[in-house]
Amino acid sequence: MTQPVTIDFRELDLDAIAGHAGRVAVFVAPDGRLDQAGRRINRLTRGVLARLVESERFEKLKEGDACLIDWPAGMAAEAVIVVKLARRPDAATARRAGGRIAARRAGKPLLVLAGSRMRMDELVEGLALRAYAFVEYKSDEKAREGLDAPITVMATKPEALAATALERGAEVEGVFFARDLVNEPANVLSTEDFAARLAAMGEETGLKVEILDEDELRKLGMNALLAVGQGSCRPSKVVVMRWNGGPEDAAPLALVGKGVVFDSGGISIKPAQGMEEMTMDMGGAALVAGVMRTLALRKAKANVVGVVGLVENMPDGCAQRPGDIVRTMKGDMVEVINTDAEGRLVLADALWYAQENFRPAAVIDFATLTGAIIIALGHDRAGVFAEDDDFVGAFLRAADQVGEGAWRMPLDAGYDRQLKSRLADVKNVGGRPAGAVTAARFLRRFVKDDMPWIHVDIAGVALLKEDTDLAPKGATGWGVRTVNRLIRERFEAREG
Ligand code: BES
Ligand code: MN
Ligand code: ZN
Repeated sequence: MTQPVTIDFRELDLDAIAGHAGRVAVFVAPDGRLDQAGRRINRLTRGVLARLVESERFEKLKEGDACLIDWPAGMAAEAVIVVKLARRPDAATARRAGGRIAARRAGKPLLVLAGSRMRMDELVEGLALRAYAFVEYKSDEKAREGLDAPITVMATKPEALAATALERGAEVEGVFFARDLVNEPANVLSTEDFAARLAAMGEETGLKVEILDEDELRKLGMNALLAVGQGSCRPSKVVVMRWNGGPEDAAPLALVGKGVVFDSGGISIKPAQGMEEMTMDMGGAALVAGVMRTLALRKAKANVVGVVGLVENMPDGCAQRPGDIVRTMKGDMVEVINTDAEGRLVLADALWYAQENFRPAAVIDFATLTGAIIIALGHDRAGVFAEDDDFVGAFLRAADQVGEGAWRMPLDAGYDRQLKSRLADVKNVGGRPAGAVTAARFLRRFVKDDMPWIHVDIAGVALLKEDTDLAPKGATGWGVRTVNRLIRERFEAREG
């Protein structure tokens, strides 16, 4: 697993600046005012920083962005990273500033001169999240060089940062865990390997992990989930992860994730162009696993159960066919019109199992469910579907606070028209119009009435082709921080 680089917090020591070999990051307010550290760098460089701040280059920087002074005279550093940032930035800008610094650390020991800035927690969070690299399959040693180069943050109150380091570290580890799973190719991350990694995480963190194999799934009647996996050599699995840090009698929050380790489309096979991206079709399951890891590492005072359906959607002689009718665990009969609409079949049974087995207080499911949500919202926001205004309001607030894009979509019953089946109770596709909504309506059938429930379609946000403020291109780990925040604010037992 990709280990987060450790960040050291120290008292601001101006005399350490000149001799730091590596990169030094310094903050300059948008009005150009230098703080203590800035003044020291300016003196060492005989006014270079002041001249940069006067320049058009600095003026053009957005707040939170950075530029470089290469080989600053009078300093041992090979570059100074100059970050435009107010003394009291908002949370998102502080996170971005941290991310920009990490993106420019160039494998060198990094000294961040934060001084008495506010929003240090977010700044350090951005620093840690952006300092991720998935180099598992780069055989050239160069790709690995400097990834573990130390990061030192100098602040006037380093104790405050050290105090929150454990919680922050737990969250960053959860995000990295989710990213690693999404970045892994499907020949490595099979259903069995995925389950084994979750079992190993259980051993490591104290999560209770249970793996259900195909025989057990058959006994439970999870035929819709099994039908998706029946065209693959890899056996389908459901993995249950439990964290019981709350009161013994408190009903858990259930998190349910789509874990399609590869989605070829099945017999309704996808076009070759871009099919390699479907190694990320287990992003919902990765998110759930990342959250569970975070909860265990920070010993959250909440009861949470994670249920992930791990299957591979492949076409072979045993694969399910278009036109097949399967009986779900709930008992509803589904006509499978398109074997590429497989995520909802997996979730139908996983959702029902989670509700029947754990009598949860609330359920949230996560899935890279539809291409249609990408048409609707692009790659900036996940689609959020719910009937419970209060619950979804809390989810959207949490997403906003951590800076993960999310947007509520409609979920009214009228869309059910599109899912009517001639032969069975429901069909698994509703045609092109509102494809993400009909997928959500399909799932709605498998949620008990009055169960607070949110469905999150993360197809557009789980994997990106461009670097972002907080992640290099590839897996984002979207949602781990939102859900962790939501749990802290809404599901965690409060003391006293
Ligand atoms: N895994 C895909 C959705 C997806 C698309 C995720 C692009 C990430 C990026 C899902 O299983 C799928 O194939 N959905 C179909 C549904 C259709 C057949 C109704 C789609 O969106 O085209
Ligand atoms: Mn599909
Ligand atoms: Zn899929």
